[in-house]
Amino acid sequence: MNVLVAGGAGYIGSACVEFLCDAGHRVSVLDDLSEGHRQAIDPRSRFFHACLADREATREAVRQSEAEAILHLAAFALVGESMTHPGKYFFNNISCGLNLLEAAVACRVRKIVFSSTCATYGIPAALPMTESTPQNPINPYGESKRSFERILHWFREAHGLDFVAFRYFNAAGATPRFGEHHRVETHLIPNLLKVALGQAAEAMIFGTDYPTPDGTCVRDYIHVLDIARAHALALQSGASGFYNLGSGSGCSVREVLHACEAASGRTIPVKAMPRRPGDPPVLIASPEKVRLELGWIPTHTSVREIVASAWAWHQRHPHGYHS
Ligand code: UFG
Repeated sequence: MNVLVAGGAGYIGSACVEFLCDAGHRVSVLDDLSEGHRQAIDPRSRFFHACLADREATREAVRQSEAEAILHLAAFALVGESMTHPGKYFFNNISCGLNLLEAAVACRVRKIVFSSTCATYGIPAALPMTESTPQNPINPYGESKRSFERILHWFREAHGLDFVAFRYFNAAGATPRFGEHHRVETHLIPNLLKVALGQAAEAMIFGTDYPTPDGTCVRDYIHVLDIARAHALALQSGASGFYNLGSGSGCSVREVLHACEAASGRTIPVKAMPRRPGDPPVLIASPEKVRLELGWIPTHTSVREIVASAWAWHQRHPHGYHS
């Protein structure tokens, strides 16, 4: 299949491109490299260097790629930043995304696989979270993704553009070739591993007074390879609609810390900090729907194993794609 991956130079996008190339798809990447990296683009893919804000360039990339399906991962995705720069999130994640959808309709693309997020749910009243858990986002990032989910629904109604929207829980880990490198790193695991690498003296724990067993936030960590495999399944299957992508079990910030210490064999000093605005206390998926309808089950379920893959990548790339 001809597949265009918008955001294919980013952390999750690069793993998806690699997976799809391995599976024999003809893959194109559309990315403005504002967050992604040229070195993260699988050389087997064709690269279109353009920004989704540029309507003409976006349409031209979709046309030239002859895409039958598009994976849309080109978004800003930092919860904390969205609290201070909401306009950046609404403009990029909604307005620019619309240019991609309009181009998809114009070029008769059949299916969109969209990177949504568990941040669309806000603070869930019950756990684990199913797809029918009420969506009340508590940060602009989650709100922007929730809005785009609604837009996808209406594009399917009006234009017959089919979609699968995956609500990712916490993406983590690395493939042997591609890993997590953000220009400004805010994510827990890479920040802990930076300390293990000796690049920072200590890591920060945001909030130690949450109503959780050890007082730190609980998240459902999912290996980036399992996310990539879900995208390949979404392309093959007739599935349509919204799906959680999580493992079904949660891990606290302190548990992740211990997994990073075990993987690296190093002590990681930490400093307790106040809560980070916009963070829900606990997010755990029910992955039942995606298992039943796409046959997807995560294969890398232990956080230790996920963190070990990240540590292996960071050791080979101590300065990310600049090393
Ligand atoms: N955390 C720390 N110290 C850090 C970084 C993070 O304690 O240095 C904490 C956060 O407060 C949070 C947890 O670790 O409780 C995970 O934080 P991340 O920044 O790694 O991930 P988020 O949960 O904020 O966000 C990620 C993605 C989002 C996605 C979300 C789904 O960045 O795009 O997972 O939960 F929506």
